[in-house]
Amino acid sequence: MDNTMTLFPSLLLVAALSHPPPPPPPHGHPPETPPAAGEPRPALPRRDPPPHLGLQDRKPGALHRRKGRQNEGRLFESSYPGSICNLLGKHSLLLMRGSLHKRMHSLTMSFANSSIIKDHLLVHIDRLVRVNLESWTGRVLLMEEAKKITFELTVKQLMSFDPCEWTENLMKEYMLVIDGFFAIPLPLFSSTYRRAIQARGKVAEALDLVVKERRKSEGAERKNDMLAALLEGDGGGGGFSDEEIVDFLVALLVAGYETTSTIMTLAVKFLTETPLALAQLKEEHDEIRARKGDSEALEWDDYKSMPFTQCVVNETLRVANIISGIFRRTMTDVNIKGYTIPKGWKVFASFRAVHLDQEHFKDARSFNPWRWQDSSATANSTSVFAPFGGGPRRCPGSELARVELSVFLHHLVTRFSWIPAEEDKLVFFPTTRTQKRFPIIVQPRVQAM
Ligand code: HEM
Ligand SMILES: *[C@@H]1O[C@H](CO)[C@@H](O)[C@H](O)[C@H]1NC(C)=O
Ligand SMILES: *[C@@H]1O[C@H](CO)[C@@H](O)[C@H](O)[C@H]1NC(C)=O
Ligand SMILES: *[C@@H]1O[C@H](CO)[C@@H](O)[C@H](O)[C@H]1NC(C)=O
Repeated sequence: MDNTMTLFPSLLLVAALSHPPPPPPPHGHPPETPPAAGEPRPALPRRDPPPHLGLQDRKPGALHRRKGRQNEGRLFESSYPGSICNLLGKHSLLLMRGSLHKRMHSLTMSFANSSIIKDHLLVHIDRLVRVNLESWTGRVLLMEEAKKITFELTVKQLMSFDPCEWTENLMKEYMLVIDGFFAIPLPLFSSTYRRAIQARGKVAEALDLVVKERRKSEGAERKNDMLAALLEGDGGGGGFSDEEIVDFLVALLVAGYETTSTIMTLAVKFLTETPLALAQLKEEHDEIRARKGDSEALEWDDYKSMPFTQCVVNETLRVANIISGIFRRTMTDVNIKGYTIPKGWKVFASFRAVHLDQEHFKDARSFNPWRWQDSSATANSTSVFAPFGGGPRRCPGSELARVELSVFLHHLVTRFSWIPAEEDKLVFFPTTRTQKRFPIIVQPRVQAM
């Protein structure tokens, strides 16, 4: 399974339709609600679910939990339209299968796991967030700022570069590549797509230079970043080629960028609309700040003493469903609860359907971080709450995303108060985001301590 599919599910549905697997499942849905979640029906046209929670009457968790997650590579596999492969590069992790995928997945884990974050990444996350926020005055397009922060963090983590002209240029080209994903339905006729392919070439070129340079400087002090790990090719099974490494870097830039910056933006939006939650969050972070000097960086212990923040993080992930579900394709006829999904069918396991199911979450549509404080209220959710997927393809960046969001919220609420600059709406197509990139007006908080 590939991550971009999950990032742009609806677009890919369109793509799936233009390359129908045998036999193509009918898609008669409004894009907002992705089709058939957990319990697929036999070869019947899918019922159109009601606009919001059409999947309520089923138990969609079961499918991806039992089959999609654990049987990756046996019953289900990823499939990908060629136009997306060209953008990602043919060696991208998101397109890999089998043992190579396993190896690359664990390599990614080993540079984004909690001990790496604690010992190496946290200090940079803290610094880059802080430096970015320092320049905020007046009207701020939150989504744009969050993207900038996320991009800088990723580049730092992948190859130890601090923000500079080079990273800024890279980001410009990179954003053209991202635009290309939105041109998928008619890639060949789209100038956006052509531009994206060109930009992909430039991004790859720039990264290729970095890789070559790093290879040359062997013997110099080993940097503690993803690139170093890739060059050493640890994980067993020989080294990687430059091309493989570049594709891998591009894939990681894609995987963490849109997702993490969206979750930052939406957390702030939900908090803005829920003043009680915002007040409690402020209190938690003011306490942490009061224990520390004004410009002292957050440490791992601080991160670990933000219980309410973690409730906010979970609740944001639940309500926003940045990745609304995951795509698989059956490799053989698959039997689930008496239903047969024929070989070659596309399967969509919808997270949104379970996360917004009243059966699992009381008053499921409302943003209520306190529900996570009551373990009995969310006890049933451990099996259905899966914003990062599960199994062998579970997001290796989940902890990193949580830390980034937490640190971002810390500096935001201790530093600023804000109001929305204009009304902005949440939309779910083609991706989860707000219509206007959530413009806010910020004001430095009066030091009250
Ligand atoms: C809020 C932020 C994020 C969300 C909601 C998210 C969600 C997901 C989900 C649901 C998958 C599974 C896809 C599948 O099963 O097919 C996934 C895969 C992946 N994510 Fe994330 N992700 C986030 C942030 C990140 C970050 C920061 C990174 C960077 C390290 C990252 C890197 C990846 C990679 C490399 C994969 C592919 C794993 C594989 O196929 O083995 N993600 N993500
Ligand atoms: C994280 O990865 C490093 C290797 O990069 C490894 O030494 C460490 O044991 C891992 N930690 C956890 C908690 O998995
Ligand atoms: C957030 O969700 C995760 C499951 O993904 C769970 O393990 C964790 O305990 C939850 N956090 C809180 C504060 O409830
Ligand atoms: C959790 O599951 C049990 C058994 O399925 C059910 O009786 C209970 O009502 C559920 N709790 C919530 C909060 O949904």
